[in-house]
Amino acid sequence: MNPVKGNWWPVVDATELGRKPISRVRFGERLVFWRAGDTAVCMRDRCPHRGAALSLGSVQGDSIACPFHGLEFGVDGRCTRVPVEQNFAIPDELCVATIPVREADGYLWIWRGPQPTGEYPAVPQHPDTLPMRHGDAATLWNAHYTRCIENVCDFSHLPFVHKTTIGRFKKGWQTAIEMEDVPGGFRAHLMQDGKPHQSLEFLYPNRWLLRLAPRFMFGLVFVPVDDSHTYVYGRSWYRLPVPGINWLMDFYTRFSQYLVFREDWPIVASQIPGDVLTASEEKLLPSDAPVIAYRKLHRAHYSR
Ligand code: FES
Ligand SMILES: [Fe+2]
Repeated sequence: MNPVKGNWWPVVDATELGRKPISRVRFGERLVFWRAGDTAVCMRDRCPHRGAALSLGSVQGDSIACPFHGLEFGVDGRCTRVPVEQNFAIPDELCVATIPVREADGYLWIWRGPQPTGEYPAVPQHPDTLPMRHGDAATLWNAHYTRCIENVCDFSHLPFVHKTTIGRFKKGWQTAIEMEDVPGGFRAHLMQDGKPHQSLEFLYPNRWLLRLAPRFMFGLVFVPVDDSHTYVYGRSWYRLPVPGINWLMDFYTRFSQYLVFREDWPIVASQIPGDVLTASEEKLLPSDAPVIAYRKLHRAHYSR
């Protein structure tokens, strides 16, 4: 997948990473995530000796050991041990490419793009969601991540694709949308009687949020797996007056996502082309304003 200009991308739910290394395909590449103590590490999941998956190995102190011949690699990717050789000077080339990683807001974030000249920027967050409890669910979409993002920024598909669920009472509506810039992204307000009826927020590169009520928000993180697969982490943030029924919200997050997204899946997977960067022939409508705003952001961030 083409690199974008430098951005932090949330790509893994941090709770997936325990003591054992985990392998995840992200941006078309197999990566291994592991922890050296409390610090998360991300590397290419491919041993430089003979290509085995390091994720099948184990963490030994501050190193990861390959399962094939036991070579060990430190957090900087350098080989620290070759157990089957005696008197062997480890060459610098015997190393694994590492990817900068941060842990924030319950996700592991990786840096994509050229290294910044100074410090890495801070990881962007939706600040008002942080103190809230959340229920999580994840789904795999068979489409390019840009198409998946556009789908959730598109109000006007609701009465057609979701006619029996979230678009049920929207038959025959006219879509009036007002756009607002926010740092790192935009808000799109669906207007009714001159007031915002529903508002969504998108933060580049891959976070989306729907503010349903002051105590209830629904967020999605769109994680590129490869050119035709996107892993979507869904999260409901809520403050419930009755703490004991949190499990109900967790269940709601999973169930509602499945119910609604299964209606989107075949349509989004059918869109040609996949990556919207190459969709220059499409004839967009005024009601596509959030899609247009996303494409503008996306083009501005892309390395050419
Ligand atoms: S392939 Fe990893 S040690 Fe040989
Ligand atoms: Fe949809």
